[in-house]
Amino acid sequence: MPDGMQQNDLSAFWMPFTANRRFKADPRILVSAKGMYYKSAEGKDILDGTAGLWCVNCGHANPKIVEAVQQQVAQLDFAPTFQFGHPKAFELASRMRDMFPADLDHVFFTNSGSESADTALKIALAYQRARGQGTRTRLLGRERGYHGTGFGGISVGGIVKNRMYFGSLLAGSDHVRHTHDLEHNAYTKGEPEYGAHLADDLERLVTLHDASTIAAFIVEPMAGSTGVLLPPKGYLKRIREICDKHGIVLIFDEVITAFGRLGYATAAERLGVIPDIITCAKGLTNATIPMGAVVTNKKIHDTMMDSADAAIELFHGYTYSGHPVAAAAGVAAMDVYKEDGLFENALALEPYLENAIHGLKGLPNVIDIRNMGLVAAVELAPRSGAPGERGYDAMVKAFNKGLMIRVTADIIALSPPLIAEKSHIDDMISMLGDVLKEVA
Ligand SMILES: Cc1ncc(COP(=O)(O)O)c(C=O)c1O
Repeated sequence: MPDGMQQNDLSAFWMPFTANRRFKADPRILVSAKGMYYKSAEGKDILDGTAGLWCVNCGHANPKIVEAVQQQVAQLDFAPTFQFGHPKAFELASRMRDMFPADLDHVFFTNSGSESADTALKIALAYQRARGQGTRTRLLGRERGYHGTGFGGISVGGIVKNRMYFGSLLAGSDHVRHTHDLEHNAYTKGEPEYGAHLADDLERLVTLHDASTIAAFIVEPMAGSTGVLLPPKGYLKRIREICDKHGIVLIFDEVITAFGRLGYATAAERLGVIPDIITCAKGLTNATIPMGAVVTNKKIHDTMMDSADAAIELFHGYTYSGHPVAAAAGVAAMDVYKEDGLFENALALEPYLENAIHGLKGLPNVIDIRNMGLVAAVELAPRSGAPGERGYDAMVKAFNKGLMIRVTADIIALSPPLIAEKSHIDDMISMLGDVLKEVA
């Protein structure tokens, strides 16, 4: 037990997405962080191979962000954004507009990725109604998609455990097939060659339900939390064409990919496909203060403004939408991304990470390695009858060696802060390689 913590201290906190009983029997407690490293309660440096939870893109305790937060909390701790305003929220929205692809011009603030997903789905429904297409109430997603844990997000999401315990979910949601295919695409570097045709599965749903019932399709351009699923070449372009053809709002869930994870402000920019709405969170404030956002194009925004029949155009929002301290952290993060050239750093480091991670091919139980931007994944064969156990063991062993990795079942993901240097990649791969040799 770490210093200062009694055994009983651990019992009250019901931990999210955690094997609580296992954790509390053998806890991994983090007490401070700086740059690329956490410090464990035992005083050990833990190299952050996952930017926390895909979110600390500028590295930990960046001085500019820390100072901005300290100043803001002393100056204006809270102000409502329902019928009032404060400068930082407007400033951050303008900064995001300038950073995001042209036409994605209007920013609605939330507090998390889950709220961003649900907000985007609601905006799509309200927009369809505002343009006289009120029969369009269906929301479509993709198998294995992750859009957080709200009822909207899990309805369009496609991860079985996130759905199966929680009732019948939103009526009318449906899913296209996912694109993960190790038979054709194992050991892919960047976008897989095979699988553009899987976009046509969206046509199947249009044929099944009729376009007049479909409001929106939400997809992660590169799916992270579900185990790093890369978009096949041409897939998203085809999705865009099908959505245009049928009047379906296309939402990219960029909670992980926005703010440099793929070397650009957005995956949309990197992949050359522009959706109608982008959701984001995580890197928006470097995770220093929780915040998310939904960025919509002009057409959606202006339609809502022009055709609303009440003084309030969108009956939606959160007490903390555009919270001043979060907004200050966001503005500072935008400065850091730009001034420190972090997107460029991610892009420059991508080939090095790619080369290093693919060097793990051939180690025990490895069945795939894939990468894009500053994201790399190693997929392990599941143990017979015990899926996820091998991945869990790898996560624990890595922590004990001084490396934080993220596992989704038996898929290991690395997504270091964008401040990483080659030597950090070397250390990550070396520790991960040792872990893979030890995990039976
Ligand atoms: C694509 C995507 N959408 C939504 C979410 C949910 O974000 P949050 O945990 O902030 O609610 C995540 C979290 O990892 C995500 O990866």
